[in-house]
Amino acid sequence: MPRLTSDFRSRKGGERICVLTAYDVSFARLLDRAGVDIVLVGDSLGQTMLGYSSTLPVTMDEMVMLSSAVNRGVERAMVIADMPFLSYQASVSDAIRNAGRLLKEAGVQGVKLEGGERVVPTVKVLTDAGIPVMGHLGMTPQSVHQFGGPRVQARNAAAATQLIEDARSLEQAGAFAIVLEVIPWQVAKRVTESVTIPTIGIGAGPYCDGQVLVIHDLLGLGNPLRARFCPSYADLNSVATEAIQRWQSDVASGVFPNLEQSYGMDNSELEKLSADPEDAC
Ligand code: KIV
Repeated sequence: MPRLTSDFRSRKGGERICVLTAYDVSFARLLDRAGVDIVLVGDSLGQTMLGYSSTLPVTMDEMVMLSSAVNRGVERAMVIADMPFLSYQASVSDAIRNAGRLLKEAGVQGVKLEGGERVVPTVKVLTDAGIPVMGHLGMTPQSVHQFGGPRVQARNAAAATQLIEDARSLEQAGAFAIVLEVIPWQVAKRVTESVTIPTIGIGAGPYCDGQVLVIHDLLGLGNPLRARFCPSYADLNSVATEAIQRWQSDVASGVFPNLEQSYGMDNSELEKLSADPEDAC
């Protein structure tokens, strides 16, 4: 049962770690039963569940509510929740209080937060307090405006060197794993070789110690626009639309529900029922 951060450290360079996002109890159960290692309640729920155009508006209350739903659906995997925008950047005490909410109120086993050297003191304080922390570098969505859009990061040597330094600093501060998002595969490979904790890639090529995807992208549910790194393993949009339309047409034609799909009343009670609905008043 890989719920210990040390279990993941020992997978470094070995069996790849599989991480998928979930935002409700149904998907949490699906992922847990399918055997994923880590269920991530990503702040991507801002787009997938709440219809925001970015992760920035997501609040702590939203994260706590959906994380606790996910946690109730998971028996085996580790559950990690994202720290939403401005829940940890303003002060270390904010970070402790908000990470504490995710562990105490939602019951998750660890948190993820974005950034390199600037969040190192926060990561240190959280891990010293016994809170497992997953780092997140590269195209960190909470900084999307700073990047001028969701663009590939660390494309030049200076930025790549800084990213490798950031990864080392996160490891030293106690992070148990680092997500690498949308960076060149060569940089992801260098980072993976430079730290002893696992790297989890998304749009970062094949040389990471694990991979993470947004479940809606993997299943073809919701946004039909796919990034280069989002494979199409299913087309649930089409499957769901077809099922809904068949049901609508069965309702329209009276095929659904039939009597087998309905509840009946005992004959003895039926006989006591007045024949004329007017008399029942
Ligand atoms: O919010 C999220 O879903 C994430 C993953 C894509 C890494 O941070």
